[in-house]
Amino acid sequence: MGRDASRKRPDRAVTVPFGRHGTGWEVAYAALFLISNESSCVNAHTLFLMPATWPVSCAANLRQPNGSGIALPPAMHNSPLSFIDPDIPDMSQTKLFEPYKLGPITLPNRLVMAPLTRNRAVPPGMVPSPLAVDYYAQRASAGLLITEASQVSRQGQGYQDTPGIYSKEQVAGWRKVTDRVHEKGGRIFIQIWHVGRVSHDSLQPNGGKPVAPSAIRAKGKTFVNGTFTEISEPRALELSEIPGIIDDFKRGTENAIAAGFDGIEIHGANGYLLDQFAKDGTNKRTDAYGGSIENRAKLMLEVSKAVAAVAGPDRTGIRISPVTPANDVSDSNPQPLFDYIVDGLDALKLTYIHVIEGATGGPRDIAPFDYASLRKRFKQAYMANNGYDFDLANKVLDADAADLVAFGKPFISNPDLVERLQKGAPLNEWDKNTFYGGGAKGYTDYPTLGAAQAAE
Ligand SMILES: Cc1cc2nc3c(=O)[nH]c(=O)nc-3n(C[C@H](O)[C@H](O)[C@H](O)COP(=O)(O)O)c2cc1C
Repeated sequence: MGRDASRKRPDRAVTVPFGRHGTGWEVAYAALFLISNESSCVNAHTLFLMPATWPVSCAANLRQPNGSGIALPPAMHNSPLSFIDPDIPDMSQTKLFEPYKLGPITLPNRLVMAPLTRNRAVPPGMVPSPLAVDYYAQRASAGLLITEASQVSRQGQGYQDTPGIYSKEQVAGWRKVTDRVHEKGGRIFIQIWHVGRVSHDSLQPNGGKPVAPSAIRAKGKTFVNGTFTEISEPRALELSEIPGIIDDFKRGTENAIAAGFDGIEIHGANGYLLDQFAKDGTNKRTDAYGGSIENRAKLMLEVSKAVAAVAGPDRTGIRISPVTPANDVSDSNPQPLFDYIVDGLDALKLTYIHVIEGATGGPRDIAPFDYASLRKRFKQAYMANNGYDFDLANKVLDADAADLVAFGKPFISNPDLVERLQKGAPLNEWDKNTFYGGGAKGYTDYPTLGAAQAAE
């Protein structure tokens, strides 16, 4: 499914910066950093600065929503909207807009909003902000919403102002979100994470070291306390601490249910704790959680089992990214590793696997990997993500290579993405400067089609 074989692996990756609340200098600085190269593509927490020779910018990867497959001419690659043929056919009859039964929940369409960290939680409690209520409610027409990653403990936080799901206040904050989404007829899962080594001492309880499978520092910077800082040196988790990590995920799940979520997505992707344990570039342990594939996969599977025991397997999904280099992770042989992991997830009867195909936010064909093998092994839903547009989404759905397709950045700038794609309408382009941190700007103020037309 790779689309641009000429793309090369990014030459360097650093942790993405983000600003504090408001519009402080840090935001401006982060923005400058992000846009310093026209060819920069941002992923979850990794900014890939791509060689200037890369032919296509992130903006140009945007939609061709009319399904025509027309490529934008180079001069329009950074244009604010993608353009469509006014004579386009009605797109609402495509598989993307067919309902899907995800366990006990019927999704009205196959379009999922991918988890998107926005760093607007309110410190010091890391409670979702009132703006988050509007933000998620605005996007309730998605078949399924998946929230931004939410830490299951203070130790699990790696970036400034990300929300948690470990305190009463956070549960109350999330309850407001789920209530409003449900009032608007939507469905919402929460993504829960522990960042492991991708953190900074200043975010950790008592200023301690972030934890990891092994004491190997991730190359990259994070943005904390209003400044760019190297990711801290981690310490290896003691074997005796691992049950506590699993308990944190369990408690996070209980809290998520109390907050009214329809289900849980475990973050097993993008170089965070569970991915760090699974991959041999970051896991050098010699105990029961290191060495063989079985041992490295153990924590991801144990967490999945614990979460499913609380939420029910039919309300538990997991996100994986077999070949992403995000946050400096690598594995010497990802195919057998993820075949094994997915067999284990299938045995647990989780409701979906959410697969980031390729480098998160970057090339889909960064490394050879047989995603069809995962699809075959897993009997429940396969949710595909990474660089999808209308055409590619329908192509994989029609080929039965996926059941659901998650869109990330397009949902940031298009609260009514479903309607726009159904109508073959132009899409708003996202503003990278407001991805991480800040207030309503670039968060809750992207216009719907109706609002845009009314303003004309
Ligand atoms: C601003 C931003 C925040 C993100 N936050 C998360 C996150 O919290 N959890 C996660 O699993 N992925 C996160 N991602 C990755 C996206 O979910 C998605 O995998 C990526 O954007 C590729 O999909 P797209 O091409 O449709 O945007 C983030 C990406 C962006 C751009």
